[in-house]
Amino acid sequence: MIPGYAMPDVPTTYGPKYVSRALALLRKHGGFALVAELEGRPVGFLTGFLQPVPAEVSRMEQRPNQQGYVMDILVEKEARGRGAGRALLREADRRFLEMGCDNVQLNVLVGNRGARRVYERAGFREIDLRLRKVIASPPRGWLEVRARRRAGRRRARGWRPLLPRGSA
Ligand SMILES: CC(C)(COP(=O)(O)OP(=O)(O)OC[C@H]1O[C@@H](n2cnc3c(N)ncnc32)[C@H](O)[C@@H]1OP(=O)(O)O)[C@@H](O)C(=O)NCCC(=O)NCCS
Repeated sequence: MIPGYAMPDVPTTYGPKYVSRALALLRKHGGFALVAELEGRPVGFLTGFLQPVPAEVSRMEQRPNQQGYVMDILVEKEARGRGAGRALLREADRRFLEMGCDNVQLNVLVGNRGARRVYERAGFREIDLRLRKVIASPPRGWLEVRARRRAGRRRARGWRPLLPRGSA
């Protein structure tokens, strides 16, 4: 089994580095990689593995203590829309069932409408939504910089810094 935290090791761009890292992970944790062929030519792949669900989450959300996880699925552009993705997802279901797991999850970007549609057709339903916001924080030392600038402007206008009472 692969713990969720192992996944940041896998590069997000698909190249030789991705392949070697992903395969090593899958091999180590008993996952699988499927290849889809169209007219005898490889056109896409899917990687998946079993993921343990922490006991407290499984209890709270009343779901099984393990889930199948589709790590990646990709069909090359020219071959899309011809059933390769659907076939990969169907075969992944079969593998997970064979491994004794009757549910499967994956993550997809909200903006990836095409893939979301494919998943919906394959029976996936949304279960949660992750939200993020960027908090614009002032740069390091920003408050000091601002204070110095203000003091500089005051000096330029002929102001004198206020001194505590009795210090003059
Ligand atoms: C997502 C992806 C793997 C789907 O592969 P695919 O081979 O094109 O999918 P299929 O041809 O098997 O299509 C499956 C179903 O979805 C439909 N579909 C496919 N692409 C669609 C799209 N862009 N919009 C709407 N429906 C779509 C098909 O009509 C088909 O419906 P059906 O079951 O009623 O016939 C492929 O588009 C892809 O590689 N995308 C880029 C990588 C990516 O985004 N991966 C997912 C990361 S989370």
